[in-house]
Amino acid sequence: MTHEVLIQYLYVLAAVLFILSLKGMSEVKTARWGNWAGSAGMLVAIIATLLAYHVERYDLLIGAVIVGAIIGVPIALKLPMTAVPQRTAMSHAFGSLAVALVGTAKYYQLYPDIDTFTMAVLASEMILGYLTFTGSCIAFAKLQELISGKPLIYPGRNFVSILVLGIAVVLGLALVVDPSQSVLLPFMIGFALLFGFLLVMGIGGADMPTVIAILNSYAGLSAAALGFVLNNKLLIVAGTLDGSSGFILAMLMCKAMNRSFINVLFGGVGAPVAKAGTGAGEARTVVAYSPEDVAAILDGARLVMIVPGYGMAAAQAQHAVKELEDVLEARGITVKYAIHPVAGRMPGHMNVLLAEAQVSYDKLLEMDEANLLFPECEVAIVVGANDITNPAARTKPDSPLYGMPILDVEKARTVVFIKRSLAAGFAGVENELFYLPHTMMVFGDAKKVVTEIVNALKK
Ligand code: TAP
Repeated sequence: MTHEVLIQYLYVLAAVLFILSLKGMSEVKTARWGNWAGSAGMLVAIIATLLAYHVERYDLLIGAVIVGAIIGVPIALKLPMTAVPQRTAMSHAFGSLAVALVGTAKYYQLYPDIDTFTMAVLASEMILGYLTFTGSCIAFAKLQELISGKPLIYPGRNFVSILVLGIAVVLGLALVVDPSQSVLLPFMIGFALLFGFLLVMGIGGADMPTVIAILNSYAGLSAAALGFVLNNKLLIVAGTLDGSSGFILAMLMCKAMNRSFINVLFGGVGAPVAKAGTGAGEARTVVAYSPEDVAAILDGARLVMIVPGYGMAAAQAQHAVKELEDVLEARGITVKYAIHPVAGRMPGHMNVLLAEAQVSYDKLLEMDEANLLFPECEVAIVVGANDITNPAARTKPDSPLYGMPILDVEKARTVVFIKRSLAAGFAGVENELFYLPHTMMVFGDAKKVVTEIVNALKK
């Protein structure tokens, strides 16, 4: 087998592993396996690339790997689950910057004899790469709360953003017509960077996970385009897989929130709304119950549904929740979990946390299944969730949540909300359910409260 044929075989193997990885990660049961397949595919891809290109300085490569490992390993080991969205945003920022910089270097390397096709691909991958870089940095800053999560709203902002993108595209076209006009390149890059910044500044913090999925697809497309320039088939395959899976994920998230792509990108959802008219509950009071009260009503239940949300992740309460499940099941009480597709802050957030706590997959119900079962539940325990239960999504057309399918927790005989206050969820919308007569509010950190319920049940 010649050297060239071996490389092509390795590329095919890596591409197959990437595809199997996506397949594996599309289901909870096979997700771990999918992750391994993806990592193995990347290792094969790196080996094949090292064999394919003549490497002049291995010391620089090894040095870069060591520096990367010193930064990456502690992040991977220590990073809390709640910070995964911003970590993903940083990965996209670095990935897209790398792709855009390679494209820029390639332009200067080929200059001035660049054919039309190569220049068109280079211009589009640079525009996508650079706008993804600034967009991802802003997404990171919003999620890490380094800057306000509120969308930057000003008159004509969408017009300004589109104009900036339009200028970058026109400059790119001018370069395609005459690639020797190198003076245009920094301006094209500058406008692409500015567009990424403006686009994401105009989007609310709650939409950042969706934005990250969209940016993921841009970074993938940009890498695929670079694959054409470098004549690297694996980069084309991997970039296309990345681009299309990011796009599909973003579409699924939009569907789960009943929002359109355009609404997420340009709707400015999450801007502060006038207080007047939000109305309900302002003059009302709720009764605070204790963990012991909850233990008392759980004692007589046959079916209990646990509804986890962002607060469970923030409190790291998943192990306490699993203990609650064990204690209840030991008493012959059936326990199920209702998983909303956008519970938490990233796709599959609740599944990952519950899997970490060894909750069995067959106890996790998807939204439609769970909604059928709520009327049969004696108790629904909402652990740090809010928006995903909020009936404003059905009843208030002016609410940012309107149209989002929700979990019908109020159909259970008793609803227990475990959270620290009456504060709204991510969408900033008050939840009517807190004031219903069959709702029990238990205030406190989710981990602490659930542990206290477990202790009370054990007594
Ligand atoms: P949220 O509506 O954000 O509500 C979480 C609740 O948890 C808050 O009201 C908060 O109330 C409580 N909480 C926070 N820390 C807590 C702690 N340590 N202990 C106990 N409670 C705590 O969460 P959700 O119901 O999971 O809904 C997710 C939201 O994110 C939706 O609006 C969704 O559209 C949005 N979103 C999600 C995704 C994905 S993919 N998951 C993507 C885009 C947008 P207190 O402050 O009173 O404790």
